[in-house]
Amino acid sequence: MDQPKAVLFDAYGTLFDVYSVGLLAEQLFPGKGEPLAVLWRDKQIEYTRLVTTCNDGAHYRPFWDLTRAGLRYACKRLGVQLTPAAEEKLMNQYRHLSAFPEDREVLSALKKRGVVTGILSNGDPDMLGVAVRSAGLDGLLDHVLSVDGVRKYKTHPDAYALGTKATGFDARQILFVSCNAWDALGATWWGYRTLWVNRWQLPFEELGTQPTRTGSTLRDVLAFF
Ligand code: LAC
Repeated sequence: MDQPKAVLFDAYGTLFDVYSVGLLAEQLFPGKGEPLAVLWRDKQIEYTRLVTTCNDGAHYRPFWDLTRAGLRYACKRLGVQLTPAAEEKLMNQYRHLSAFPEDREVLSALKKRGVVTGILSNGDPDMLGVAVRSAGLDGLLDHVLSVDGVRKYKTHPDAYALGTKATGFDARQILFVSCNAWDALGATWWGYRTLWVNRWQLPFEELGTQPTRTGSTLRDVLAFF
């Protein structure tokens, strides 16, 4: 098969390391940091699905708002007191996540080969803009695509279609990269070639479809070229 013409990356957990949020949560709520970070993430993603599937998207809210709502829920569920100051600290940390160490190297190698690069994320444009700038990745990305443009979260087909529309390539000419198994599956179903970066040694989704390839770091993108 031909080499991909474009590589689109998921953002949170794939290019940006959300682990630092767990560390801060542990400092704020000793002994509860890890469960809080996991529940927060799960709830955030659950809310994206809820607002996308109910009433034809009438309840859509930007990812930043759903992230805050997920944090509030997770704290209530775990019985920890989320003061306004703690909430701002955690949300601020989410806004300025660091990039994974290999991001620059992989994006630079793709740019050298003339491959189109981009982000295709649930994050809203403001969040993505700050994250890209804080991580120093501006200049290495041709597209920063937010589902906010279609007000439907991944795994809705309109969200994945942003990538083909923006690049002008067919789905099979695009490699979609995510560390989230559900996202790699949704993108595979939609028609992209996919790399699931299994950073945390998790099982893949048990729904009968596999990603095109599985890797362990973003460097595995380069094996497609
Ligand atoms: C994103 C989330 C799903 O960046 O990680 O789209």
